[in-house]
Amino acid sequence: MKIGVFDSGYGGLTILKEIKKRLPQYDYLYLGDNARNPYGSRSFELVYEFTLQAVKALFERGCHLVILACNTASAKALRSIQQNDLPHIDPNKRVLGVIRPTIEAIPHITLSRHVGVLATPGTVLSRSYSIELNKFAPDIKVTEHPCPMWVPIVENNEIGSPGADYFIKKEIDSIFNRDSKIDTLVLGCTHYPLLVDSIKKFVPESTKIICQGSLVAESLECYLARHADLQAQCSQGGSTKFLTTEHSNKFDSLASFFLDKTVESETINLSD
Ligand code: DGL
Repeated sequence: MKIGVFDSGYGGLTILKEIKKRLPQYDYLYLGDNARNPYGSRSFELVYEFTLQAVKALFERGCHLVILACNTASAKALRSIQQNDLPHIDPNKRVLGVIRPTIEAIPHITLSRHVGVLATPGTVLSRSYSIELNKFAPDIKVTEHPCPMWVPIVENNEIGSPGADYFIKKEIDSIFNRDSKIDTLVLGCTHYPLLVDSIKKFVPESTKIICQGSLVAESLECYLARHADLQAQCSQGGSTKFLTTEHSNKFDSLASFFLDKTVESETINLSD
């Protein structure tokens, strides 16, 4: 049994990389729905439909545990899949998201208790971060801010270009204009760590930037330790396979660049 990692595109690779660093022994199957990306500006219904198709595809290919390495899917589809779909598909399979592990870390990081969340328009509209964080730490003021251009910048590998930096500065200026007391910025989209060098150019030096990968990896390790039956089913060959809904050549060249190692993917069709 492999561990499935799903994202709308390349962003989930930032999560996969950290998971593999912490838990290299397991077998992983990554799926990027690059052909239908970005999810961030799509309706609740469509993100749910696409995410469910992806989860089923990973289950069919031998995954018993799937990480939604995508905030938009975690915000818009995770709860419905966990509560309504899994009991019918297979109550022994599990789907986990990336928002909860991030929320749990935030109160330990911010000192000013003013936190900014940069995310896709879909995640911001769901208000998942402010609603969840309010349950853990009601004293924290959360400003959620949409960055609609940032995922296309990554998916089209415009990282570091003057055009990309213009859109990165624009959103950073705008979130600090909304709350100048922010001391912690959450990159609430798994694509954004790929932009972190540009982001750092435009934030005050003392700002703490939260990338989710290591938090999700740590949380997965704890989850498996708490669920010994599930952990026992995880095969330990240390392999990683890649699936994409785009042409594999296109995926392979960018994924190899982002992961700094050769990637050979297989193209699959999710809408069948
Ligand atoms: N990487 C995804 C996220 O964490 C979604 C990007 C998109 O498809 O808009 O939200």
